[in-house]
Amino acid sequence: MNKLILSVVLSIVLMACQNSTHNKQADSIGQKVEKLLSQMTLEEKIGQMWQVNGGYGHDDNIRQGKIGSILNDVDPQNINRLQKIALEESRLGIPLIIARDVIHGFKTVFPIPLGQAASWNPELVEQGCRIAAQEASSTGIRWTFAPMIDISRDARWGRIAESCGEDPYLTSVLGAAMVKGFQGDSLNSETSIIACAKHMAGYGAAEGGRDYNTTLIPPRELRDVYLPPFKAAVDAGVRTFMAAFNDIDGVPATGNEFLFRQVLRNEWHFDGFVVSDWASPWEMINHGFVADEKEAALRAIKAGVNMEMATSTYNDNIKVLIEEGLLDIKIIDQAVRDVLRVKFEMGLFDNPYVAEENQYQFAKPKYLEAAKLAATQSMVLLKNDKNTLPLSLSKKIALIGPMANQAYEQLGTWIFDGDSTLTVTPLKGLQDVFGKDKVMFAEGMAISRTRHQKGYRKAIEQAKKSDVIVFVGGEESILSGEAHSRANIDLPGVQNDLIKELKKTGKPLVLVVMAGRPLTIGAISEYADAVIYAWHPGTMGGAALADIIAGNANPSGKLPVTFPKEVGQIPMHYNHKNTGRPANLDTWTQMYDIPVKAPQTSLGNESHYIDAGFEPLYPFGYGLSYTSFVYSDISLDKEIYAKDDIIAASIKVKNTGEMAGDEIVQLYVRDLVGNVSRPVKELKAFKRISLNEGEETTLTLTLDVNDLAFTNVAMERVVEPGQFELWIGGDSNATLSTFFSVK
Ligand code: NOJ
Repeated sequence: MNKLILSVVLSIVLMACQNSTHNKQADSIGQKVEKLLSQMTLEEKIGQMWQVNGGYGHDDNIRQGKIGSILNDVDPQNINRLQKIALEESRLGIPLIIARDVIHGFKTVFPIPLGQAASWNPELVEQGCRIAAQEASSTGIRWTFAPMIDISRDARWGRIAESCGEDPYLTSVLGAAMVKGFQGDSLNSETSIIACAKHMAGYGAAEGGRDYNTTLIPPRELRDVYLPPFKAAVDAGVRTFMAAFNDIDGVPATGNEFLFRQVLRNEWHFDGFVVSDWASPWEMINHGFVADEKEAALRAIKAGVNMEMATSTYNDNIKVLIEEGLLDIKIIDQAVRDVLRVKFEMGLFDNPYVAEENQYQFAKPKYLEAAKLAATQSMVLLKNDKNTLPLSLSKKIALIGPMANQAYEQLGTWIFDGDSTLTVTPLKGLQDVFGKDKVMFAEGMAISRTRHQKGYRKAIEQAKKSDVIVFVGGEESILSGEAHSRANIDLPGVQNDLIKELKKTGKPLVLVVMAGRPLTIGAISEYADAVIYAWHPGTMGGAALADIIAGNANPSGKLPVTFPKEVGQIPMHYNHKNTGRPANLDTWTQMYDIPVKAPQTSLGNESHYIDAGFEPLYPFGYGLSYTSFVYSDISLDKEIYAKDDIIAASIKVKNTGEMAGDEIVQLYVRDLVGNVSRPVKELKAFKRISLNEGEETTLTLTLDVNDLAFTNVAMERVVEPGQFELWIGGDSNATLSTFFSVK
């Protein structure tokens, strides 16, 4: 008892000390900020609100204190030179922040974020971002424009590659992990790069999946689906936000006071700063939201965007806006205060230079190992008929396909600094694992978009001589990412035809897809005995793939996004509403089976497509393993819960196969009756577990009753009393469920 009291007292004292250190630090930063601000001219304040592109041609402006940040300089010598001008030659010696898009690795490239999300492994994701920060900071970069946590429900949208997929909870957890990884334990560590939660908000809802397109997001959906990952980023300590390009219901995000003043500052109490997207204040002219650059600057600043990226509407107009009384200097002071605070927190005033001895900390063996593990855990086994995989090492492989040996293309979008000389391609990976004599390579197509069949003959010859065909296709890097939306998301070029020709050899065929988005591979998968979805797996993709193909690693990735059968089904996401007439397999009739002249209502009137049905190709959360997992005995610690209770849900999971493996155990909830209609399922918890063959475990997943909250008709966030169904299983089609109530 005494011991208990002592330990409680000690922790209270410790917490009090920690709080007081934190407050003292905050106080002293606050004081430093105020002191500096009081010495600044209007021009110098405006300077802190401008981020310019590239490290050359700005010396004079930096000297005059007219620039606050630079993006896209990666030369440490030049970065140090510019910092020296800022520190030693400008009147107040305010350092620059050097920014760069470090999205999924720097020199060592990790899988695209959508691939990392398929690992459902926050620790691994955090580690990847930590490594990216270590590499990037060794060149002087201290700010990245990541994580991108836009909910993405449309595979046509090229930027789905940069996202964590369709789910608010998974995106929140992984986005927070990314923030922690980039920022590290302390912002003023020289390996810390500040993170930027982007793009606030709703960018992923671009109509038709066409990048930059307008979005129409009902306010409740904005609150319940699109904003939660951004709130989670604030809770994880993210120091910057980026305003999105899109408009939401007519108001461009960059000029959106609701988003940045009301939600971000007033409700979430964020005290970092907001940067525009590239030229996004200026682009409000194109949106038809403002008449000219002056109004653009006014609206963006008033909305709460502290810093303008690339264009100069702030720089050119703030002074006159103040002189004309259109803008209050207090708004400028606050905008600058936020920027300075972060610069102080980062320790840039005391330690602005990148240390010579720290330069070029790239691609260390442990970084490559981490990238390999990330790639391994991100790959999703979608199909494995008759245990085609893994392949025994004695097999002779015909390795074919336009992505089988493309060091650059497998790295994915946003790899400005990625070093493709480090890449292990599938060819190299398979040769290393199976031996050079076991792998016959014929690409068949030079690139994924090749539209002629000149390479077919050689590929088919090789296939005939092999025991098994491994076809590595997909889409090149440039086919996904910013401004690279596609209306048709089949395998491009003549890949489908080549696969069909190869299958005619009668050999087993393993299809590996490297892509930046879900592709509509349903029909072509029929020709494959096994399918691995590898995304763009990064530097170590080929090594990871070879381990999976050989069974040295057991696939464990699960889809972070629903795979549609056809583009026409989009948007398709597991957490949809039930509708008044939910679809039903018992009554659904495929178009070609509908009797001629069938009476109009004879087949039921339900929410489906008569050609494509209503089910996806693969559901959210789906992924196979070389072993199998059986779930049983779902139970809850209570039947009725009150507000603030923690719900503890237990389940038995058994590895019933013949190989050790990881399973991602997923917990979904449905609020059965709501003041507004509620999704049919929502992910609320998950855990990656490892089980040896035959091993069984009972595990408990928890969620807070407050996690059941949603936005009601009155736009209040509430947990409504009532009944809920709770499922636990290996994907969003989980059937094992139980019920509970909230009083
Ligand atoms: C535009 C993109 O939308 C954004 O995500 C990126 O960070 C900036 N350009 C800077 O490159």
